[in-house]
Formats: sequence, structure tokens, C-alpha cells
Amino acid sequence: MSATKKLFVKTYGCQMNVYDSERMAEALGGAGYETTDRPDEADMILLNTCHIREKAAEKIYSELGRLKPFKAANPDLKIGVAGCVAQAEGEEIRRRQPLVDLVVGPQSYHRLPDMAAKLATGERVVDTEFPPEDKFDHLARRPRARRAPAAFLTVQEGCDKFCAFCVVPYTRGAEVSRSAAQVLEEARDLVDRGVREITLLGQNVNAYHGHKGGLAGLIWDLAEIDGLARIRFTTSHPNDMDDALIEAHGTCDKLMPYLHLPVQSGSDRILKAMNRKHTADGYRKLIDRIRTARPDILLSGDFIVGFPGETEADFNATLALVRDVQYGQAYSFKYSTRPGTPAAEKPQIDDDLASDRLQRLQALLSEQQRAAQDEMIGRTVSVLFEKPGRLDGQMVGKSDYLHAVHAAAPDVAIGDIRRVKIVQSASNSLKGELLQDI
Ligand code: SAH
Ligand code: SF4
Ligand code: F3S
Repeated sequence: MSATKKLFVKTYGCQMNVYDSERMAEALGGAGYETTDRPDEADMILLNTCHIREKAAEKIYSELGRLKPFKAANPDLKIGVAGCVAQAEGEEIRRRQPLVDLVVGPQSYHRLPDMAAKLATGERVVDTEFPPEDKFDHLARRPRARRAPAAFLTVQEGCDKFCAFCVVPYTRGAEVSRSAAQVLEEARDLVDRGVREITLLGQNVNAYHGHKGGLAGLIWDLAEIDGLARIRFTTSHPNDMDDALIEAHGTCDKLMPYLHLPVQSGSDRILKAMNRKHTADGYRKLIDRIRTARPDILLSGDFIVGFPGETEADFNATLALVRDVQYGQAYSFKYSTRPGTPAAEKPQIDDDLASDRLQRLQALLSEQQRAAQDEMIGRTVSVLFEKPGRLDGQMVGKSDYLHAVHAAAPDVAIGDIRRVKIVQSASNSLKGELLQDI
């Protein structure tokens, strides 16, 4: 039996990568690796990468450059690139950065133990296949260790929507749903290990079809699990918000009142060019229906400014949509040209103009975000406490609306859910006072 080796994983990109990094670490656990948070003592360094915007992808090459001294200090160190850059660029990564020993795409993570054995013999490995077998059937089970109270659980992967700007359909492949039985088993296991809140993940999570009742059916089954207190899901596509899911927001107590529903633009002309297959008014009507089912729901969105052909009028339509919807949270990006996507072929708009629009949009979104936080003052929310705060006796957790809340809570343990009255709103968090449970 060889001595334990150390694995350092660095995660970029979306929550699905966070989940994948955990699963990779567990898969390599079976091959004798344990995780470390110190790259200088690692025997293997894995970068789990994101390809969504140019900056995200380029960051990986500068990070790889920074790893050179570690390799010089330890010639046996293995350096691997996983995730969406690995899938998109494959062999090219090794051409640009020869110190890379391993390139592994998101659908091949279950093969990591075999890959590690090959690496040990000095071989280099590139695997960006979409294998026929289900990786979830083969990925090593999670060890029976305690978990933090909030966990991610991937239920759906890939995307068939082909928005004209987006690399995800190419890096993550076609939409695939895990079976409800497999998901429920994993959820029960998480709950046994201390998890109280599960966020179901998918690139298009509401296109989930592993349950005959769709995502809503899965949520209702999960809600039956004793000890699981909170359910969330992300990311949803407006076209897949079916009636059952909207209704669940009104009737399922465990489903939290928060919805991330990206719209990207408020201009029908741009939405069409983006291949979003919905209109701005269709989105407004959908939001009305969701708010009818759950009036206090906190809405979040994604926006892209500077998409090819976007005029000032198109941009103003986006501002108008944002004013109509009133978001509690939002993510906005300057369009980034991604090779191989249809929008990359179009005449691109001026970068300074796009930066200016991004600034104006972000000013409006931050105003709304702050207003949604300030509105919480005086209200009672439930908080799942996740870690100690900065001050003595203080704890920090998330409200049902996903706001970070800190409170003096000397008798509260990690994983407790308590009623809290919000008394103050700061730039990125709320302050609350613990109420006695009734
Ligand atoms: N599947 C999700 C999100 C995918 S990526 C959805 O459909 O909403 C997350 C966000 O990144 C997108 O919502 C979009 O706003 C942004 N994004 C994707 N491609 C981009 C690009 N080429 N340039 C800038 N932002 C992009
Ligand atoms: Fe990308 Fe569009 Fe698919 Fe979302 S729905 S992952 S933005 S192609
Ligand atoms: Fe990035 Fe891939 Fe997620 S491109 S956003 S890590 S699906």
C-alpha cells in the first residue's frame, strides 16, 4: 500500500463545477489521494475550469504559468485541467502549456482513478470523450463524513438550447437528467450526514425529466425526506418554467422563495438574435404568474450587454424590463465573443460602449438589490446557520431569500434553523436578532 498522496483542487465557474470538484476529490480518494488546501504540498493539482467568457478561459493559462515553480520543486507533481476549458480545448492545452499532465472533460470524471494510475507511470492523459456509460453510476460514493449544512446536488447536465452566445452546449453536451431514484438516494445520504438544505443543480435544471412529474415531481419527493428542511434549484430557463413548478413555489413549504431566472436582454430583437425563443413580455407575464403563486419570492437574473447588434434602444429595453421586474439579486456581463458560437460570426460592438452600458445596468441592479435588502428590515425570516461570524458569539447563515444574515447567537449550532428578526441592512448582508422559538 503506497503512502497517501495529496490533491489540491481549484474551482472556477458555476456551482456545477463546485459539485464536480467534490465528486472528483471523492473519486480520487479511492485512488489514495486526500485533499489539501496547500498547493505547495500537493502531489496532484487539478484546475476545474470555466469557459463561459474569454477572461475566464485565459485566466487558466496564467494560473498554469504560476504553477511552474511547484513542478520545479517537485518533478513528480501531476498537473491536471478539468472542466469546460478542458472539454473545449482538449489537446490544445498541452500544446500551449506542456507542464500539463492531464486534460479531463466533465463527462469522464469517473475514469479519474484509472487516469491517476496511468499518470503514475509517467504517461500523459487527455480524455474529453462523452462516454456512453453514466458517470454517476461509476463515480465513487461519497465517504460517510459530516457535511456542511447546505449542499449542491447535480440532477441535470448539459444544454440543448444553443443560445447564440453560449459555449455550454458544446462543453457540457446534450441535456441529460439523472434518475429520480439516484438523486433521492444521494439526497438521503447527504441528509444523514448533516445536510439541511439542498440546491438542485443543472445548466437547465427545470428541463429535468428524470421524474415523471418533472422537476416539480422531484421536489415533492425530496420534500418527503425528514431532516431536509430547504430545497432550492438553479439555473432555470424561462421556457421550462411549467405550471407544476410555479405551483410548487406557492404550495411546497420546503421550496425556498428564491428564483434565479435569467432573461439576458429586454429587447425582442436581441432575444431573437440570441436564439432565446421567448420575448420580453412573455418573460414579464411569466414573472407575474410566479409572483401570483408566491408574492414574496425574491427574483434573480442574468444579463448580457453589448451583444452583437445591440443599439441604445435595445439596451433601454433591458433597463425597462429590469425596472418592471425589480430584481433582488442579479448577475450582469459584457458580451464575450466565444469561438465556435454563432454570435461570434456577427459584427461585434464597440468595447467602450459595452462597458458603459454594463456600468449603467449594474448601477440600476445594485439599487434594486439594496432596496430588496432594506425591505427586509423589521421582517422575520428563517435562517440556516452555516458558520461562526467575525465577532465572538456571532453566527452567519442564509435566510429563506438567500440573504446572508449575521446575528448574535451564542446558543446556536451550525445547521440550526432559527427565526430571526432583521434589524439592519449593510452592503452585502443583513443583521438580525434571534427570536425565541415558539
Ligand atoms: N444555463 C444558464 C446559465 C449559463 S451561463 C442559463 O441559461 O441561464 C451563466 C450566464 O453567463 C448566462 O446566463 C449568461 O448571462 C452569461 N454568459 C453566457 N455566455 C456568455 C458570453 N458569451 N458572454 C457574456 N456572458 C455570457
Ligand atoms: Fe447557455 Fe442558453 Fe443553454 Fe443557458 S440555456 S446554458 S445560456 S445555451
Ligand atoms: Fe463555466 Fe462550464 Fe459552468 S463554462 S459556467 S463551468 S458549465
